[in-house]
Order: sequence, then structure tokens, then C-alpha cells
Amino acid sequence: MAWWDTVLGRRKRPVTSAPTRPIERDPARREAPATGLPRFRSFAADQLRSVRGGPLQEARLKLRDAFTPSQPVTDERMFAGRVPVIAALIQSIEEQRLHVVLYGDRGIGKTSLLHVLAGLAGEARYLVHYESCGEETDFDTLIRSIAARIPQLYHASYAAGEAEGERTLADLLPAGAVTPRVAGELFARLTATRLLLVIDEFDRSAPGLFRRQVAELIKTLSDRSIPVQLVIAGVAANLTELVEAIPSIRRNILGLQVPLMAADEMATLIEHGQRMSGLFYQPAAVERIAAVAAGLPYLASLIGQHAGLAAIDRDTLSVEPADVEIAVERAAEEIAGRVSERSRYEVAAALRAGLGTALDRIATAALADSGRFGPAVLGDAAADPVIGVGDPLARLTDEFVLVEPLPGDPGGRYRFREESVPVFLWMERARTRG
Ligand SMILES: Nc1ncnc2c1ncn2[C@@H]1O[C@H](COP(=O)(O)OP(=O)(O)OP(=O)(O)O)[C@@H](O)[C@H]1O
Ligand SMILES: [Mg+2]
Repeated sequence: MAWWDTVLGRRKRPVTSAPTRPIERDPARREAPATGLPRFRSFAADQLRSVRGGPLQEARLKLRDAFTPSQPVTDERMFAGRVPVIAALIQSIEEQRLHVVLYGDRGIGKTSLLHVLAGLAGEARYLVHYESCGEETDFDTLIRSIAARIPQLYHASYAAGEAEGERTLADLLPAGAVTPRVAGELFARLTATRLLLVIDEFDRSAPGLFRRQVAELIKTLSDRSIPVQLVIAGVAANLTELVEAIPSIRRNILGLQVPLMAADEMATLIEHGQRMSGLFYQPAAVERIAAVAAGLPYLASLIGQHAGLAAIDRDTLSVEPADVEIAVERAAEEIAGRVSERSRYEVAAALRAGLGTALDRIATAALADSGRFGPAVLGDAAADPVIGVGDPLARLTDEFVLVEPLPGDPGGRYRFREESVPVFLWMERARTRG
């Protein structure tokens, strides 16, 4: 039987519970009155430094910071792997004086990379401005907020001995909307420093004017060798998808796709969490986490945290493979909860229609390629009854509306209509150990 038989309820999900090896009961649980209701485990004001209640309670508190699946890593000590990406970023910024566009899947680690890069640039005395885009972000506000944080000390018009006061570059901007040309004029007079302008979540900005203005700014900065460099990041499968007006700035930017994490980088991520929490993740547990996480640090962090909690629930600090299975189960539930009801319904319908193998193949391919896949992953569907009756791709496109052809893709590839469906399918498979 295949994994989707479990999903469809044809097979009972295997029970995954690890043997209990108590070292010391969690005192937070011992104190709870027996009303049967679950309780908060720690007091709101509990600080790591003043933890009463033994190593289990302490580890439980520390796990919150040891794995942060819903937040980017900001602390360099918690940042795992990514050495080649950081090296490429530094080289292109420092030596080639290029602007960088960092793109990749949701949760692949773009924001974490930017935070660490910003820290390293700050160490090298770059002025760093980090901006996270929203739909409302506009060029004028962006430039004014950057300018407001740069003292006039760094402007060529600044005279030595002049009272620095609170004056910033914002005071030098003319009234009216700031255009890329005006921004270029201002930044051209920066002296004795370099400015690194980090623009994150660029995909969330409204397509059109703002994106074109950013591209125009890049052009102006490059043409005039102005000491300001942009690092732009966002969810995208390719450069063109993220930055408009690419042809005009192609020579001035380095496009860098954030790759999936390798197994050893995943192991480092868990190792950091282990060091931070005081738990011990057995090698087989680490291996299983890395395998299920499929190169996505977000998944590794989520499963790592749940696995730690599962071990603590057994009153032990040693995380075993069985704890990982419980964690996978919980993580899968969490992820399923984020997928639209419609998609879940269509997936179940497609599985019932015998398209399990087809879905499995395209989801796995899509996970490794920003949600896209080529029809080739299905092989010769007509000659392979396992893949499904009829034309599985056509059925998944028209009947179950789960996928669609990628507009204008020369390779004739497809994509999932809802971006979280491939990871949902992947986790459904992992939770049933299919
Ligand atoms: N190098 C890393 N070391 C440790 N954890 C990481 C690393 N990169 C990412 N993570 C973890 O993975 C998760 C996703 O990271 P991050 O928010 O940086 O991704 P993102 O690509 O910016 O996501 P989004 O597309 O949603 O903005 C976070 O929980 C973060 O803690
Ligand atoms: Mg991000």
C-alpha cells in the first residue's frame, strides 16, 4: 500500500511513540492540578537565567530560541552552513562592486542570509540599511527613510568642525517625490563610506513603478560608480521574475539563487539547536530530520523543535528517531493547516482517482525547483499504468486544478497553483513513512 492510502484513511497510521526513559520529571507538569486541561508550561516572566525546575524545564525554555521555524535567524552563532553563498555575496559586493539579487523558494533562508550579511558588512564599516517591502512600499519613502539614517558627516558638503547635530542626508533632499535620479545625485556625494542597501521581500512590492525605479537606481549607481550597492531578495524561481527591466541592468547585477541546504548543513543547524537547548540529538535522529527536511531549513527547524519537545515530554534530554516521527507528524499537521481547504479537497480527490504516483513525482520535483516541474518527471504516462489512467497531467490541470502550465516557459514546465501544496504532499508522505 502507498502512503496516500493512509491519507485516504484506508490504513491506520502507524503509532509512533518512543519508549520512556525518565531522567527527572518535568516539575511544571507535576505542579499542575488534575482538571485534565492542558496547561502552559512556564511562567510568562521566566527568563533563561533564572530557571527553576531542573534541566527539562530549562531545555524546554531554551528550545524556543534554539529553533526558530517562524523567524529568520539573526544571530550568526545560530546560522548554519551557507558558506559558499556568503562568500559569493561578499566577493561580488567587495571586489566586483556588483548589485546582488538573491532569489529562491519560500523558507529557503533568504532573510537569514541577509541578516548575517548585514552583520558582516557592518563589521567592515559599511553603512547598512535593511528594508522589508510590502505592497505599499514606494520609492520616495524608501529613499527618505534611508537618508534619514545617514548623518551629514558622510556627505561631501559637510565641513569639518561644523556642528553635526541631528542633521542627516534627508535634510538635503528637495521637496517633491524622490526619483532615482535625485537619489543618485544625493548618494553620489557620499564620502568616506559605502552604503549597502538591503531590500528584502521584494516580491511583495507592487509590480510596476516601484520595481522599475529600483532598476533605474541600480543603473544610475552603476553608471556613475556611486558607493551604494543594493542587495535585493525575494521569492522567485528566476531573476526576471523578481526584477523588472532586467535587460538594462543585467551587466550590473549578480543573480544568486539560494540553493537547498545540503545534509551536512542541516546537521549543523541541528547541532546549533542542540548546543543552545542542552538536548542531545542522536545521530540517527539528525539523519532522519535531514532526510525529511529535503534541503529546506524551515522544515529542519520546525521538525528539530518538535522533536526536542517530544523528547522532553518523555522526560529525557536525548532525542531519538521515534521523537522525530512524532515531530514529523506534528509538523505535517501544522503544514496541512496552512493549505487551503480547496487544495486539500482536490488532492484527496486526485489520490482517490489513482493519481498518487503522479502527484508524488511532481511534488518531489517541484520541491527541488521552486514549485516548478517538467512533464518529463512523469515519464511516458501513457505506457505506465502506475502513473494513472488517461493523461495524469491533463487531469491534474483541468479536472483537479492543482497545477497549471508556467506562462511563457520555454521548457513547457508546470507549477502548482498553491505554493504550499508540494511541501504539504511531501510531509503527508513523510508522516506515513511512504
Ligand atoms: N542558515 C541557516 N541556519 C539556520 N537556520 C536557518 C538558516 N536559514 C534559514 N533558517 C531557518 O529557516 C527558516 C526560514 O528562513 P528565512 O526566514 O530566512 O527564509 P526566507 O527565504 O526569507 O523565507 P520567506 O521566503 O518566507 O521570506 C527560519 O526558521 C530560519 O530560522
Ligand atoms: Mg524572508
